[in-house]
Amino acid sequence: MLLIKNGRVIDPASGTDAKLDVLVDGDRIASVGPNLQAPSAEVIDASKWIVAPGFIDIHCHLREPGDESSETIETGARAAARSGFTAVCPMPNTRPVNDNASVTRFIVDRAAQAAAVRVWPIGAVSASSHGESLAEIAAMKQAGIVAVSDDGHPVANAKLMRQALEYCRTLELPVIDHCEDSSLFAGAVMREGANSVRLGLRGMPAATESICVARDVQVAALTGGRLHIAHLSAAESLAHVRQAKANGLPVTCEVTPHHFTLTDEDVTYDSCFKVNPPIASRADREALLEGLADGTVDAIATDHAPHEPARKDVEFDRAPFGMIGFETALALAIDELYHSGRVGLSRHVELFTTGPARVIGKTRRLAEGEPADLSLFSLDHPWTFRSEESASRSRNSPFDNRPFRGAPMMTVVAGRIAFRR
Ligand code: DOR
Repeated sequence: MLLIKNGRVIDPASGTDAKLDVLVDGDRIASVGPNLQAPSAEVIDASKWIVAPGFIDIHCHLREPGDESSETIETGARAAARSGFTAVCPMPNTRPVNDNASVTRFIVDRAAQAAAVRVWPIGAVSASSHGESLAEIAAMKQAGIVAVSDDGHPVANAKLMRQALEYCRTLELPVIDHCEDSSLFAGAVMREGANSVRLGLRGMPAATESICVARDVQVAALTGGRLHIAHLSAAESLAHVRQAKANGLPVTCEVTPHHFTLTDEDVTYDSCFKVNPPIASRADREALLEGLADGTVDAIATDHAPHEPARKDVEFDRAPFGMIGFETALALAIDELYHSGRVGLSRHVELFTTGPARVIGKTRRLAEGEPADLSLFSLDHPWTFRSEESASRSRNSPFDNRPFRGAPMMTVVAGRIAFRR
């Protein structure tokens, strides 16, 4: 038993924001209320902390199977636990691709043996994510996937997207969409603009993403399927999502901490800044912050994308896209959203909990009888992120040595303490 005393309990599902105790018994929440007593319980003093439902990251890369020198399910899940996440959804671009039930079962079984947090895999839309024919989606659903995506690549054409949305509608799965027009993308490594010219790096315009968002919102309207836009980075893309929502379509989107924190002016030749979609312009970042505040954005997702140093520590042009993101996610959000005064605490928590849960058809509530998944965090704990101390196997973060105010303090998964600062 765990008795979490005097925390500021924030539960977006019920609108709770109050100093309360939370009693955990086994893998469930036994009670939430004032002055709870449980003589045999371990008592956690949470009087300086926020007590929230467990965070969910609906977009990450754990690299197992196939690229275990960059990350494993065990190391990635440990990094996630240190970051306040109690459940993470790994993308299917592993080797082999998670496009059939045996790969899904491998991931689920590995996670059951080795992961500190829950692992809810995402299956591929198309076989090998090659964009030709649908993957074995129904069998993967039975094996435990919570969504499908060809992340890393766009779904190749509108016809396949239509088939995927129609099929997934009957299976009640969202299609998570990596939006990219391949012809505009061609060979680019960062966002096109004055800074790509200054650095002499080939740029892609924001329309690379927003053209594809526009296409797929229309395909979603055609099918009634659930479309979720991954790592949305452009103002124009957000406008399409906002309009789709206003039209009553089941379209959702996520934004990453690096996209709402950095701009293309921050990009240097350090390949840690190379990410897809690329870090956007100042005006795009401003639009993302607005979408995070006004409810257009459904979730913060990390796109934690570890790459081992041998592959990432090369010239910008040659490096793979991606940065690690678990351990800095909450602190970046606290800095940019909460301390800046742009986003209230309940909305902030929603972006990590009920928001992402809704995207994948789950609920998140901090209430009696619910699974005991909890994220306890501080809004002012001072610390400095050092990538060499990361629990991830990889080091590719542009936030190395960045000081923060606010941090995950304890993560509880199914009633067990998965991380304690
Ligand atoms: O930066 C990225 N890295 N974007 C993606 O879409 C894929 C990911 C990866 O797998 O490394």
